[in-house]
Amino acid sequence: MEFPSPVKTFHDDTYPSINPTLSQLSTKGKNIVISGGGSGIGPGIAHSFAKSGASSISIFGRTQKSLLQTKEALSKDYPNTKIYTYVADITEKSTLDTTFQAVKSTVGSVDVLIANAGYIPDLHSIAASNADNWWAGFEINVRGAFNLISSFVPVASKNASIINISTAVAHMPYAPGFCGYAVSKLAGTRVFDYAAHEYPEFFVLSVHPGVIETAMNAKVVAAGMNYPHDTIELPADFEVWAVSLEANFLRGKLVWSNWDVDELKAMEKEIEGTDKFTLGLFGWP
Ligand SMILES: NC(=O)c1ccc[n+]([C@@H]2O[C@H](COP(=O)([O-])OP(=O)(O)OC[C@H]3O[C@@H](n4cnc5c(N)ncnc54)[C@H](OP(=O)(O)O)[C@@H]3O)[C@@H](O)[C@H]2O)c1
Repeated sequence: MEFPSPVKTFHDDTYPSINPTLSQLSTKGKNIVISGGGSGIGPGIAHSFAKSGASSISIFGRTQKSLLQTKEALSKDYPNTKIYTYVADITEKSTLDTTFQAVKSTVGSVDVLIANAGYIPDLHSIAASNADNWWAGFEINVRGAFNLISSFVPVASKNASIINISTAVAHMPYAPGFCGYAVSKLAGTRVFDYAAHEYPEFFVLSVHPGVIETAMNAKVVAAGMNYPHDTIELPADFEVWAVSLEANFLRGKLVWSNWDVDELKAMEKEIEGTDKFTLGLFGWP
């Protein structure tokens, strides 16, 4: 199965233009925060930021054990990047306030927020869904988005970047069983759209990471949907590119990690300041 794409080259793995060791993608001197940094795509993103020379990476999650495992692996491979772990549930606003303040007192202002933690409710039709499980998507994907942004703003550096790990499902046509996920991720992505307007000094971008073999994806596969997989290095390296000056023209957009960045750069005039790659209503003038 092939996904439609606005560029000719649709990647399923990392490639030279998004290599985090490129000097123009360096994050030397930057403080990074990643939610969901203990398992799934998050540790991969942390790995790529460490590779690009970040000064510090603070990872949030609810499970101390997995956070510490990520920290151990990264500290071994990247001794020049300081790794900090925070047990924090993104659905709890007061916990996030305290946690972001703790990050600021430890490393200083935060330059990059990767809002990556997310949840996929069980894949059933509406009537067959458990109401609490369906709503858990909103707690984590929507309330979590609001909490992350509002607690991040007071500790953010002047020209900070916010990357929202969104999903293609937020804009794709109907997919059976995906109601709770599609609707909550769409709403969550709109929270980031609002942040892009409210804080024009920040760079805000939503990114579909690709299809990555994680616990979340295992749930999709178990429900009988098996899309072709991408490597974890693809979205991880793409996020490093996304916070570089090269990606500035994508401010406020929603793009896929699979799309070739050189082709995107060639489309800059078509993309910047237009409604291309934004969410809206078909047919509305
Ligand atoms: N995998 C894919 O193919 C795919 C495709 C499209 C979009 N995405 C998006 O990519 C992001 C990462 O997905 P994934 O595949 O890595 O999912 P995952 O394997 O389920 O991992 C989710 C991560 O988020 C953390 N998390 C969940 N709820 C949290 C909460 N309330 N507070 C703090 N941390 C929380 C989890 O850690 P704890 O449980 O320890 O808290 C875990 O580290 C999500 O936003 C997802 O929607 C994934």
